[in-house]
Amino acid sequence: MTVREALKIAINELKEANIGTYGNDAVILLKTILNKSDVFVLTNSDYKLNQEQEHYLFKLLEKRKKRYPIAYITHKKEFYGFEFFVDERVLIPRPETELLIEEAINIAKDNNIDTIVDIGTGSGCIAIVLSKLLNKRVFASDISREALTVARLNRDKHTAKVDFVLSNGLEWIGKRVDLIVSNPPYVSEKDYENLSDDVKYEPKGALIAEEDGLSFIKHLITHAQGLTRYLILEFGYDQSQFIKSQRNLLKISKDLSGIDRVAVFRFS
Ligand SMILES: C[S@@+](CC[C@H](N)C(=O)[O-])C[C@H]1O[C@@H](n2cnc3c(N)ncnc32)[C@H](O)[C@@H]1O
Repeated sequence: MTVREALKIAINELKEANIGTYGNDAVILLKTILNKSDVFVLTNSDYKLNQEQEHYLFKLLEKRKKRYPIAYITHKKEFYGFEFFVDERVLIPRPETELLIEEAINIAKDNNIDTIVDIGTGSGCIAIVLSKLLNKRVFASDISREALTVARLNRDKHTAKVDFVLSNGLEWIGKRVDLIVSNPPYVSEKDYENLSDDVKYEPKGALIAEEDGLSFIKHLITHAQGLTRYLILEFGYDQSQFIKSQRNLLKISKDLSGIDRVAVFRFS
């Protein structure tokens, strides 16, 4: 089978399975199988797949048709211009979380920020990007041992100055820091049921929080006071009212869809 034939099969099968991104996905699957670039796939139509590669194509097509995330297939996700390794042990970094990075950089620039902590680090994307861009050591924690294994892999890949701690919430922080950032789990049980099938492959513990998705956010806001000068957190599409009712709120930023998404708190 040639690349041309393989692309045709992949596009047809993905289209039939109602995968909206069928064209893009077909190219990504092919380049993953061949371990080549997009340009190679698009310019070498007559290149022949060997038998092993053909089997691999059908295996990946079956997965993608069941909406298995493309990032878990390629094991790659770009976040703020950095490429991260991802698999089922961690949440796939989201573009809206880049807003949290921007707010953290703004606060760090103007406020003499030295010690930075990332709570619920997952793949390590926030901690690693902040450490690289601000040239600071960052401390990052997660309750999932498996997530921390992936985060360490990404830390080493980017030679970032990040130390990881296995812990629940803020309980490990012994002395006052300058900035705590977090993209916590904030989806309610009810909303989780209505999420797309792709998301259901991601760790449930990275997404769902009790009390209508607010339990972890409440923990962060309540306990951050006394532990940090600034707290920056991401929150859900319907949680803005709760965030606005909290003391010490400095600002809220909207994501590209115009939804309130990131809150900055300043504690005296
Ligand atoms: C929404 S994900 C964010 C992952 C990553 N920071 C990102 O932005 O892509 C939330 C992370 O918080 C972790 N988590 C959940 N409950 C936690 C807890 N009680 N204490 C610490 N981390 C927790 C999950 O394991 C998950 O990695």
